[in-house]
Amino acid sequence: MIKIKIPATSANLGAGYDSLGLALDFYNQVNMEESDSIDITSLDGVSIPTDKTNLVYKSASDLFKVCGKTLKGLKLEQTNNIPMARGLGSSSACIVAGLVGANTLLNNPLSTDDLVDIAAQIEGHPDNTAPALLGGIVTAVFDGKKVHWVKQEVYTKLKFVAIIPDFELKTDKARACIPKEISHKDAVYNLSRAALFSASLLTGKFENLRTAVHDRLHQPYRMKLIPHCREVFDIAYNHGAYGVYISGAGPAVMAIVDDNNDYFRGKVEFSLNTAGLGNWTVHEFHIHNSGVMVL
Ligand code: HSE
Repeated sequence: MIKIKIPATSANLGAGYDSLGLALDFYNQVNMEESDSIDITSLDGVSIPTDKTNLVYKSASDLFKVCGKTLKGLKLEQTNNIPMARGLGSSSACIVAGLVGANTLLNNPLSTDDLVDIAAQIEGHPDNTAPALLGGIVTAVFDGKKVHWVKQEVYTKLKFVAIIPDFELKTDKARACIPKEISHKDAVYNLSRAALFSASLLTGKFENLRTAVHDRLHQPYRMKLIPHCREVFDIAYNHGAYGVYISGAGPAVMAIVDDNNDYFRGKVEFSLNTAGLGNWTVHEFHIHNSGVMVL
């Protein structure tokens, strides 16, 4: 069986809505082999579709179609560590697993660029799928068909601390709350911060991150869908985070923290419990620089 390890991802990074994302050292695994029927198992008890609607299966089937083939069936074994509908790229991980697994089964007819394009076409935006495939931090423009991207590896001494609530927020709902139009002033507000974010992260100018994560495109609207989000931001900043943003479509909140801030996690957990927010859990990650892995 092919074993595919796909990283969780954090998208938007504040102001870079639908354009910036990075990969984390936290993974789903999918084992895949060709079969005459559909045989899908969850290895960790997480409930997943076991028919044609399974996103890994659908994505694999899409890739076969692109290559002029018909997928008869697959044996899939899934380990879904990445929590679903929390803003950590769980659906992108399934899409990437399906595409990369199917491409491997066919002896790699498609290039990495092709996979980046097809994954974004399935997902509708590239900022989770591209870093899941490529690793590092990815800057991407999706023109509806093709993704124009740059991947950069990150070797700064930072950790990404996800503060995850026990409730889900579906991406569709979190996209529906965003206004259709914004002012010229707000556009400048966002594009300047998105540009500042990657430049500051990559050059180690971390004192800029607090300004760089502010945005006027999505976070103010999504905060209303995430009870106590503002309090969670304040707790993370009080314990020394450089920058705090809603990860992807939320509801997870991501704090960018110096690796030497040893007790950040424990202090945040303590403050959350004191504030009656014990339904939020704290998880420490680092950037994963190499993207999806076929073992
Ligand atoms: N850029 C996407 C969004 C990421 O914010 O809706 C979540 O899929």
